[in-house]
Amino acid sequence: MNKQLRKAVIAGNWKMNKTPSETTALINEIKPLVQDADCDVVVCVPYVDLQAALEATKGSNIKVGAENCHWEKSGAYTGEISTGMLREMGVDYVIIGHSERRTYFGETDATVQKRVRAALDAGMTVILCVGETLEQREQGITNEVVGIQTKIALGGVSKEELSRIIIAYEPVWAIGTGRTATSEQANEVNHAIRMIIADLYDSAAADAFVVQYGGSMNAGNAAELLAQPDVDGGLIGGASLKAPDFAEIVKAASK
Ligand code: 13P
Repeated sequence: MNKQLRKAVIAGNWKMNKTPSETTALINEIKPLVQDADCDVVVCVPYVDLQAALEATKGSNIKVGAENCHWEKSGAYTGEISTGMLREMGVDYVIIGHSERRTYFGETDATVQKRVRAALDAGMTVILCVGETLEQREQGITNEVVGIQTKIALGGVSKEELSRIIIAYEPVWAIGTGRTATSEQANEVNHAIRMIIADLYDSAAADAFVVQYGGSMNAGNAAELLAQPDVDGGLIGGASLKAPDFAEIVKAASK
């Protein structure tokens, strides 16, 4: 498995933080700090901040993503946003299946699969989140849980489409808790995910496939996590809201 084949992706997940004017300010702060990055840099922001983010990132190396999308093209789905709406704005990335959506908003593996299909059909790149709860880890079923989430989400995804999917392994117990997975734990599950890709597709597809780690990644622990052979980047929550910290993680991924 050759890490050199893969370009690291550092993505911020701003969650429900920042207004449009705060978005402009934060991106203007981040921009000069990451302009020489040797990795892909993405910021995923609330829907109402997308326009401000697209304007502020114009001409820079920062890409913009949404934090979710609906699977239908249009219709009576009050409060939802379609991939067509995002694409017309110029949004290329979308997070799908985040554990907060699974926990608080009834997201299931089946709806994750539908959203992945819609995003791919719209030409977007998907950051697909998978991860186990603490209880599941303690039961020793982490790889099974992550395996099922991955396999269902990728149902119907062709080998060609895989280049537009990134998987973020985010152990639920590590999100927003300050409790990071050890680099060995992160690498072990990331490797297991890569093996699933090899099994579903082939080893060349698995070699090229980007698997991020997410869960309390910060400026202090990023270098060690990102040095692992199967950790190809990060999906960053809290630390992505602080420009110097986010830039430090981007720097660690650029080595
Ligand atoms: P934290 O980095 O705040 O733990 O959040 C991780 C996350 O959920 C990114 O999607």
